[in-house]
Amino acid sequence: MIDLTGFPFPDDAPEPGACVRIERPEPGLAVVVLDPPHRKLTVLDGPVLRDLDAALDELERDVTLSGVVITGRAPDEFAVGADVKAIESVTDPALIADVVRAVHGLFRRIAALRPRTVAAVGGPVPGGAYELSLACDCIVATDSEQTRIGLPETQLGIIPAWGGCHRLPKRVGLPTALAAILTGKLYPAKHAKKLGLVDRLTKPAYLAEVAAGIALGREVCRVPARGWRGLLIDRNPIARAVIVKQSRKQVLAKTRGHYPAPLEALQLVAHAPGTSLAEGMELEAAAAARLAVGPVAKSLIAIFFASEAAKKLGRRREGVEPRQLDRAGVIGGGVMGAGIASLLAERGVATRIMDLSRPALDAALGGHRADVERKRKSRRLTPSAATAAVDRLDGTTELIGFGRTQIVIEAIAEKLDVKRAVFAQLAAQVPDDAILATNTSSLSVDAIAEGLPHPERFCGMHFFNPVKRMPLVEVVRGSRTSERTVTEVAALALRLGKTPVVVKDVPGFLVNRILGPYLDEAVRLFVGGVDPAAIELAMLEFGMPMGPFALLDEVGLDIALHAADALHEAYGERMTPCAGLFEVKGPERLGKKTGLGFYRHGRGKPELAGDLRSFQRGDAAKGLGRADIVDRLVLAMVNEAARCLAEDVVAGARELDLATVFGTGFAPFRGGLLAYADSLGTREVVQRLERIAAAPDVTSRPGGTERFTPARLLVEMAESGRAFHDPPAQAAPSADLSTVAG
Ligand code: NAI
Repeated sequence: MIDLTGFPFPDDAPEPGACVRIERPEPGLAVVVLDPPHRKLTVLDGPVLRDLDAALDELERDVTLSGVVITGRAPDEFAVGADVKAIESVTDPALIADVVRAVHGLFRRIAALRPRTVAAVGGPVPGGAYELSLACDCIVATDSEQTRIGLPETQLGIIPAWGGCHRLPKRVGLPTALAAILTGKLYPAKHAKKLGLVDRLTKPAYLAEVAAGIALGREVCRVPARGWRGLLIDRNPIARAVIVKQSRKQVLAKTRGHYPAPLEALQLVAHAPGTSLAEGMELEAAAAARLAVGPVAKSLIAIFFASEAAKKLGRRREGVEPRQLDRAGVIGGGVMGAGIASLLAERGVATRIMDLSRPALDAALGGHRADVERKRKSRRLTPSAATAAVDRLDGTTELIGFGRTQIVIEAIAEKLDVKRAVFAQLAAQVPDDAILATNTSSLSVDAIAEGLPHPERFCGMHFFNPVKRMPLVEVVRGSRTSERTVTEVAALALRLGKTPVVVKDVPGFLVNRILGPYLDEAVRLFVGGVDPAAIELAMLEFGMPMGPFALLDEVGLDIALHAADALHEAYGERMTPCAGLFEVKGPERLGKKTGLGFYRHGRGKPELAGDLRSFQRGDAAKGLGRADIVDRLVLAMVNEAARCLAEDVVAGARELDLATVFGTGFAPFRGGLLAYADSLGTREVVQRLERIAAAPDVTSRPGGTERFTPARLLVEMAESGRAFHDPPAQAAPSADLSTVAG
């Protein structure tokens, strides 16, 4: 019996024995079915592990058995991993180590069973679910689209600690195991088979039959040969050392040392070939205990739960019955419209794109075809899916043919009167229940909706550039937008693989409003004499994915300036943009798209432009150190974020943090902007802001230091000792959202 003392059990934990049953479809065979009645998705939580343990008692006693199959309640519903919610709440490392050891004991009992054991899996099989399979003699998986197999734990700041770091390298060799564990990728069935993660694939309908056949020796299950090269690597300490050194270098370059889990996992995987199972397990337990209670895991798990909670936005609830939107229109085939239309078509939505300009339209359609072709070549799309994706997008240069569309997303030039005119024409054409949405980034959604017959079916659907890569969509709720419209648009965003965050119709919405003061402060410090390379480095070291000047070049200096002006107009004095941006910008100097901005973009790595010094005015800010730079840039964002919360621009701190991580790339290991503010403490944040506001303005530019005057909400919170994520603000969503870990 394993000891799960101290393991958090959900409140609705069923009676012992209810989560796992043993079926005996034919002589000599036992089929262990994981089917917890308290979970929509099978999570390997306390009750399931307890009942699996009890089932093993019976299997061990039964001398008549020749084969055992472990499977889920349906072919594509095996299990979704360990109970992340349980990990989220544990703060005692000894408890984590005990639970990990208990699970090791359980899986070792499976591995030691005399009859042949077969894991029959399908659907998502991440983390602990896959580690359970690894303890079996053979793994059969369904070949269905839903099947995704892998060890994503490092993405949550933990490691595959239920035997994964030890058993996977022994099964597939060092290079493949390292790639799987360090990237945390979930592989589609065919890919998983090719890499050796599973031994055999079958149609879902035959899973039980094939697994039973293998367990009873009627069918063969050939564990793929590792090949001489693989064995040579595993048995050669020099080759292993080279691979490990190389991987370590790559991890450090990517994470700048902020993420301890990949480094711990790397160590464990590297040791696996020369370590016994018992030693390997003990090392796993110790590493898991260190990581799971650390701040990085807690931050990444909080972001994971926030993104899972965002999925609820698109779901049906009382009084809201969302439709699935299958026919869309996109107006404007430029940078944004082309990306949106292509994504819609790829994800199964029949889409019609319109642009006045024939060359723009042709470029959009050509870009879509090329993108789909790339995906076909790299096997991310099957040939038939690729053909269908191309066929789903058609184009026009006239505003006609939208009579059956369920949603039209506008992405044309940022001009209010032009947008209004387009929507007026569309409103006369689309069905009465169609949604009209704008991708505007700086105009008011309410202002664009004015005069439309159905303002309740109008909203903002704000994508970020580049559309296919950026994971966030702001769903902008106008003052008359209906709940149903918000829900259907959020559901569409989710279908496109994006995370929706619902925001209020205020200038800059949420993300650009927060990002504005950050980018402005970077330009101010640069103009005030700070070496731009030092600013870039300070923010990279802080954990941002790119420095502020690289980001400005990416966005385009013209667009950034336009956004800065709009924020200034809306929020006045405190958002006065620094003139430096205007001075750097030129007709041929718009950032990446013209090859020159703050950086010179050529074939190789972009370099900061050689003439930047000529834009600096004085050296009042020159003496600022790295911590000052970080404080000024990040606290400028925190201050604006507090104002957004006070104005209900977003539902809460959790949603705001999610938007900063997915919309600005804000250091995920810090858990988002406000989680970072909490790590300092609101009192400390206010004191630092006050210090900056009281000091002479080293940037000597309009706007003064008023921008650092602490927001009222921050001051109140500091006075009452509250944090942004005080419970219940960060309460985790329902247990069924818990997935992936082990
Ligand atoms: P763009 O200039 O690349 O493309 C606009 C396209 O609209 C052009 O191809 C133009 O021919 C077409 N167009 C102009 N007037 C039209 C009309 N009346 N009917 C049909 N087509 C018309 O612009 P971009 O960058 O794609 O921006 C589009 C919208 O997306 C703007 O509202 C912008 O604020 C917003 N946005 C832009 C982002 C960016 O980073 N570029 C990010 C997020 C939102």
